[in-house]
Amino acid sequence: MTSKLSSDASNQTPYYITTPIYYVNDRPHIGHCYTTLIADVAARAQRLVGRDVFFLTGTDEHAEKVSKTAAENNKTPYEWATINADRFKAAFEFMNFSNDDFVRTTEDRHKDKASAYIKQLLDQGDIELGDYEGWYDPSQEEYLTEIVAKENNYNSPVTGKPLEKRVEQNYFFRLDNYQSWLQEQFANDTIQILPSARKNEVLGRLKQGLMKVPVSRKIKEGDADWGIKMPTDDSHRIYVWIEALCNYLTTVDTDDRRKYWEGEVTHLMAKDILWFHAIIWPAMLHALGKQPPRTVYAHAYWIAEGTKMSKSLGNFIEIDLLAAYAEKYSLDAVRWFLTTQGPLGPNDADFAHARFVEVYNADLANSVGNSMSRVGNMVNKYFDGTIPATCNGQFGFPDGSSLQTARKALENAGKPVDDPNRTFDLAKFTSEATSKYLEALDRVDLETALDTARSIVREVDEFISYSAPFTLAKQLDTLDDAKHALESILYSCAEALRIASLLLSPAMPQKMAQLWSTWNCNHLSDPNDSNSSFVAPLIELAQWNGPHSIKVGQSITKGDALFMRADTNEPAPEATAAS
Ligand code: MSP
Repeated sequence: MTSKLSSDASNQTPYYITTPIYYVNDRPHIGHCYTTLIADVAARAQRLVGRDVFFLTGTDEHAEKVSKTAAENNKTPYEWATINADRFKAAFEFMNFSNDDFVRTTEDRHKDKASAYIKQLLDQGDIELGDYEGWYDPSQEEYLTEIVAKENNYNSPVTGKPLEKRVEQNYFFRLDNYQSWLQEQFANDTIQILPSARKNEVLGRLKQGLMKVPVSRKIKEGDADWGIKMPTDDSHRIYVWIEALCNYLTTVDTDDRRKYWEGEVTHLMAKDILWFHAIIWPAMLHALGKQPPRTVYAHAYWIAEGTKMSKSLGNFIEIDLLAAYAEKYSLDAVRWFLTTQGPLGPNDADFAHARFVEVYNADLANSVGNSMSRVGNMVNKYFDGTIPATCNGQFGFPDGSSLQTARKALENAGKPVDDPNRTFDLAKFTSEATSKYLEALDRVDLETALDTARSIVREVDEFISYSAPFTLAKQLDTLDDAKHALESILYSCAEALRIASLLLSPAMPQKMAQLWSTWNCNHLSDPNDSNSSFVAPLIELAQWNGPHSIKVGQSITKGDALFMRADTNEPAPEATAAS
């Protein structure tokens, strides 16, 4: 599928990416961290591309389950919400997320605007008063149709907990008026629902027809004073879901931020809440006269060591466990594992220690880290750490003699040469990888984007084993042109890895900054800006022999290994006591 906004590197449309706002009845776990991590990697990648990015996350505080848990903990709802909102903020800071704002729905800036939107919908007749008799899922704070309730034996389709029968007078949003408009948006891909398996599910359910949806709850005796009152009717509160969705707009509905809503909007979430984001929210936006989101992306779930995570099993992977992994393997290794092995596609993913170590060794210790240290070490050993010459990255073509010389060195040493006609074009390879990376970003396909980055590392590794610079280095005094060949080969490896490091940096910002510091490439990003702001757009930064390339005379110091190899037999890290 081609996206409306092309992967054109000069794309100047502002980019706005959001995560769900999380319930503050409890502390954050891997699921919340994962969605926010995906948003962080995408946001950092779009900043690297050169776009003006706004990345929002936050907390959804007016849910009934928040006031109930608060009471169980002898706190007011707001006190309890604050305790947990602070835990989310701390967790996200720990994960090194670069969110531009963190919204709490108890803030006036949200409450005032959310009420104003609901008032507008009331005034326009998009919201009207009516009776509701049906099923409510308190564990998900969601109203369900009779069909869905029956299909699930009157239990929650998500948590399995019993549904409640509710008979109440409610205000309703006339979602049914927007069926054909929605169908059009999906048919012409104005709103893209990703991944495609999820889109088919939404389209299937949409075909069954849309009903009016409740947007309020009548206040009952004994209810906590919690939630935003319905404008024009104090006896109702705005239903938490409807209010929560508004956060995406309330936070940027200001003069300086409105450009983000008018740019390209991407909403990320898991499959549990896709319907709200793909159907109800775009219809509300349309009714409000606002542009719908460009992308609604719903990933699958993390499970833990093969088992679904649940409160009753007490097997939620919480931030403390992630912190223990980060302590042992580095935070960027945790970010890498979650981003590349997570449930980004339609299938659930398992967080298992054995798999973590396998991926850590294969992708990071033996690949990215090893390749970077190997090249740095060779530049140190053979050229005293200073780059002596540049090269166009092409080897083995009729006019390029360096590979010829490398093969000769292997023959002299009595070693086999695999395929004597082999060519390498690292400049072309990196430029094609950069284009593929940009295309993958358009689909929020971070797994492909990061694998493309790593394909450069694999190509460099293959080039090193083929051209054997260590063999060449032993013949500097005996073989004509050996010095030139060695210089060309090592320059090309270093330059290709510099480009790979740029593409890897959204997932592993700290480790790549460490590489830039040992390789004196700090000029790539603004050192005063922790939110990965780069000095030029990716297309310019990644140019081979371009203004930001490795230069003659640049010193490449020997740094510490980026990732130490892990022992597969070591026990899994354990979380320290929950904070
Ligand atoms: N407050 C609502 C969202 C309102 S958005 C306008 C809500 N909150 S939640 O705290 O339950 O968060 C649900 C989201 O957390 C999921 O959509 C997903 O982003 C993330 N995850 C929760 N559990 C998860 C997994 N086990 N695996 C992956 N992500 C999961 O729903």
